[in-house]
Amino acid sequence: MSTPVKKVPIHLQSSQNRLLIKNGKIVNEDDIIEEDVYVEDGIIKEIGRNLIIPGGTRVIDARGRYVIPGGIDPHTHFEFEFMGTTTVDDFYQGTKAAIAGGTTMIIDFAFPKQGESLLDAYYCYREKADSKVCCDYGLHVALTSWSDRVKEDMSILCSQHGINSFKTFMAYSFMLNDSELYSVFEHCKNLGAVPQVHAENGHIISKNVDKLLNKGVTGPEGHEMSRPEEVEAEAVNRACTIAHQVDSPLYVVHVMSKSAGFAIKQARERGVQVIGETLVAGLACDGSHYKNPCYNHLAAHVLSPPIRPDKTTPQFLMNLLAQDILQLTGSDNCTFNKNQKEMGAKNFSKIPNGVNGVEDRMSVIWEKGVQSGIIDPMRFVAITSTNAAKIFNIFPRKGCIAIGSDADVVIWNPNKTRIISAKTHHQAVDFNIFEGMECHGVPEYVIVNGRVCVDEEQLRAVQGHGKFVETPVFAPFVYDPEKLSDMRSAKNGTINEIELSNKLAKVSSI
Ligand code: URP
Ligand code: ZN
Ligand code: ZN
Ligand code: ZN
Repeated sequence: MSTPVKKVPIHLQSSQNRLLIKNGKIVNEDDIIEEDVYVEDGIIKEIGRNLIIPGGTRVIDARGRYVIPGGIDPHTHFEFEFMGTTTVDDFYQGTKAAIAGGTTMIIDFAFPKQGESLLDAYYCYREKADSKVCCDYGLHVALTSWSDRVKEDMSILCSQHGINSFKTFMAYSFMLNDSELYSVFEHCKNLGAVPQVHAENGHIISKNVDKLLNKGVTGPEGHEMSRPEEVEAEAVNRACTIAHQVDSPLYVVHVMSKSAGFAIKQARERGVQVIGETLVAGLACDGSHYKNPCYNHLAAHVLSPPIRPDKTTPQFLMNLLAQDILQLTGSDNCTFNKNQKEMGAKNFSKIPNGVNGVEDRMSVIWEKGVQSGIIDPMRFVAITSTNAAKIFNIFPRKGCIAIGSDADVVIWNPNKTRIISAKTHHQAVDFNIFEGMECHGVPEYVIVNGRVCVDEEQLRAVQGHGKFVETPVFAPFVYDPEKLSDMRSAKNGTINEIELSNKLAKVSSI
């Protein structure tokens, strides 16, 4: 039987921005097909074989490569004033590095400064980011206090400014108490927003910090000692309990330990609607770093919750992703240079918390997940892109290769390798926690809104090419999973065989 010929409608042929990606294997979260992709004006216009395309269209041969949705990093901190200093990757350098690694959208956090309103924080971040971003971006908004004003601003942000997620903290000086978390989760539920939580018990941490400093433990090794696994797991469990009591969904950011992963598994089993994000740092780094005698090396690995000393944790977290106990991966890119990390030379609790990851997330997860045989390319797409798009309600515009979707596309060569190094990365930071790691999986082409921004591995990112993407409330993935499968079916004009609601409910044993 001959393959049907699809003709591209004449009214679509007007632009210069035309691209045909031929002979690749298109990977979505639920299938892999060998078809060509035609892009025009930043949108995927046709998918099929023997497409008739306008003359002059650029053709990229993707034979032997995967054609995947651009990565979505749901957790970055660019130009973030934190712990008395500011992260070195700004919205230009950060998004440029993201693109170099195959990520075509990031979601950052608008963080109110002391006394600043949520709305002002939002405007401040829009102003910082809009003119600089090389790829599309969205924003979560951090809640560093709770009041009627905060409550009202949350409503305005959701209804007028394209915000659908709010991050709360159970640690740091600006943590909320249980009663405040209860009110926030309840309000999020009424708004159709996603409450996020940084889950560590801040009270226990501050007692432990004092105790360690009094005993003379001042070096970076004190960081992990002051916030061990159970301090993370206790907070995860408490946040899940609060969410369950108000019947709201909950998104736990940066799950970094076995105990916390286990708390999420148990919560899901008792019906808590909890979504878990883990970090590329947790999937690739282990406690061997804590044996390094060099202050700078240790301090460069300090983030919260910490990288765990237990060497089996990274693979354990990857298994949780494989089993859908955790749903997505971020970088928590929050970068400080050596001189900034030295702020904690005499007291580990003053080391600015944060590591790199926005550039290397895709390759490192491919290496640790697909190359090592734990997940397949479809699950890779789900945990690096699709699930973020669904949770933050921008699917199927983002997170899939489908007709009508934004042309955020990566041509991924699984057979090529590269070695990660701070000497060659595109980030502003002077250290790379993945230094020396060899990764299979190289983004040979990265197409951002239809523009080829990595071309035969050459980075050609353009400042200001990206734009702010609104994230609407009441994401079906979070609030109505059954509706989501209908949306995808309608998009592709096919019967969707995947029942997302079933998938969500399925929690196999660890
Ligand atoms: O250490 C971290 N994670 N730094 C960034 C701030 C946060 O809590 O996400
Ligand atoms: Zn956090
Ligand atoms: Zn190291
Ligand atoms: Zn963070």
